[in-house]
Amino acid sequence: MKKTTSVLLSSVVALGMLSTAANADVSKGQKVYLKMCKKCHGNGTKGAAMNTQDGWDELFENNGAKLIKAHEGDSSEAFFKGDMFQKISGDLRDFLYEYGSDSGNVPSC
Ligand code: HEC
Repeated sequence: MKKTTSVLLSSVVALGMLSTAANADVSKGQKVYLKMCKKCHGNGTKGAAMNTQDGWDELFENNGAKLIKAHEGDSSEAFFKGDMFQKISGDLRDFLYEYGSDSGNVPSC
């Protein structure tokens, strides 16, 4: 009769663990964006809002094939076709995805 044990506690603990981590790459990607993309696409808020989160996933598919294609013929082509882009594209993708137009998040740059 007196042993009414609560199961609620476990779900409260689980919730607390969700909202940390995952930010290291986003801030690296933000730096890359400011250095490589801002001059043509404006600040990070504007840049990331060029696309939805699904849209960014698509652009970064196949090692960024669509994104590379979109820049063929302009002065950023060499960057997109070089090793540098492949090296940083993971971080860059994380930043853009994190702040995609339907993310509800706004970066501070
Ligand atoms: C030299 C200028 C320049 C730089 C630097 C540049 N872009 Fe672009 N970007 C363009 C131009 C020009 C287009 C084509 C515009 C259009 O199609 O309307 C474009 C198109 C795009 C598109 C639309 C692609 C599509 O098909 O939907 C995205 C997304 C994009 N750029 C992201 C980036 C990112 C991320 C970076 C940094 C890694 C970057 N751009 C750097 C000039 C630039």
